[in-house]
Amino acid sequence: MINIEQVAELNKIAKQMVAPGKGILAADESMNTVGKRFAAINLENTEDNRRAFREMLLTAPGEGRYISGVILFDETIHQATSSHKTFVDALQEENILPGIKVDQGLAEFPGSPSEKVTKGLDGLSGRLREYASMGARFAKWRAVITITDKTPSDANIRQNARDLAAYALACQEAGLVPMVEPEVLLDGNHSLATCEIVLDKTLRAVFEELAKAGAVPSGMVLKSSMALPGKDSGQPAIPDEIARATLRVFAETLPQDLAGVVFLSGGQGEIQATENLNAMHQHGPLPWPVTFSYARALQDSATKVWQGKDANLAAAQRVFLHRAKMNSLASQGQYAPELEKGFETSAGGEATQD
Ligand code: 13P
Repeated sequence: MINIEQVAELNKIAKQMVAPGKGILAADESMNTVGKRFAAINLENTEDNRRAFREMLLTAPGEGRYISGVILFDETIHQATSSHKTFVDALQEENILPGIKVDQGLAEFPGSPSEKVTKGLDGLSGRLREYASMGARFAKWRAVITITDKTPSDANIRQNARDLAAYALACQEAGLVPMVEPEVLLDGNHSLATCEIVLDKTLRAVFEELAKAGAVPSGMVLKSSMALPGKDSGQPAIPDEIARATLRVFAETLPQDLAGVVFLSGGQGEIQATENLNAMHQHGPLPWPVTFSYARALQDSATKVWQGKDANLAAAQRVFLHRAKMNSLASQGQYAPELEKGFETSAGGEATQD
């Protein structure tokens, strides 16, 4: 059990994560996933290139106007900028909260190998304490739910919900705000209506298990996927329909006192992810802060401009800041397509995130 002072501190951090006009950069790709991003720009996947890549994203001048927190990978939390400042210190100087991915990737779900469970509960409390001592203020755990003709199974949803709840409780006990991420994958040919049903079942189970475990909603952030038609469905993805379906699910399943919701981009294009977030806020005011926690939809165009070259650093950071600003506006319902003038963006479909 956590005491009143611990709850107050968690509430404060969680509020800061979803502060008005700000969102979170997910920069926690595993080495393998960074390798896929680098392959697209013909860059070797070395430790120093990964460090330089993170420096490009984490030190864009003034990004603290739009970014409240950054999710780091274990390697990155141990790394430093080219001027020998740890990334944690560099973020804190900009009033940006350092976060850390603490799950250890996916494994097959026994008995249903097309479904997944998330690894990393073994030894988790010790790792959380260590990350907290290094300056992390929140942690992320990603579970995935797969839609096919036969899945998701109730058993898989329940197992992932239980694991997310165990992780969330361990985080709160260690003084870290849990970012609870059950991602309903975009892959597949399912309809928007099917995705809405699956998202509803998933979030229902997750919040049931979180309540059973005794995790405190005001000291946690939900990282959700949007209700979207499957990537191969051929169905048009209309922002207003996506917003309505997603918000219907949230209204049914989220506790009133949840600190906030952040979205993953999940393979949507950059503009699509911004438009869909903006559409949510056309139905406001919403009962919770609702903002972004994108990886691909904040990084893709900037990465293409960067190409691993110092000479491109400033231009890449400008592109990154532009996307951060567009999403900041979208998180307040103030985005408009005309604001994209002068910036080329990525159409999405990059290989899956972790
Ligand atoms: P994407 O926005 O690329 O989906 O990544 C967000 C994330 O953190 C997934 O775990």
